[in-house]
Amino acid sequence: MAKIIVKDPAGNVMAEFTANAEESLGTQAQEAGAPIPFSCGVGACRTCVCKVEKGGEHIDREAVGPMHIMIEDDENLTCVSGIKSGTDSEAEIVIVAENL
Ligand code: FES
Repeated sequence: MAKIIVKDPAGNVMAEFTANAEESLGTQAQEAGAPIPFSCGVGACRTCVCKVEKGGEHIDREAVGPMHIMIEDDENLTCVSGIKSGTDSEAEIVIVAENL
């Protein structure tokens, strides 16, 4: 599975972990120590939004549920997104939390 790096808006690395395919990126990031905020938890509010700096092709934007709002192509709602199944272990994804 892919390696995930989570940065704060200043570019500091807050967490690094190997993603599993069962949980959202946001949940896994929080468990790894990156305090990405959640509010609705169902893809409807932008609280958990992150910019995707690298590896967007490995992200399933609706892995654990549908998005209910529009976001930019380089953004990601971490409460509903996850890793695409079959992503190889060499893949690296870098996301930047916007609402810290
Ligand atoms: S917490 Fe509301 S969109 Fe993710």
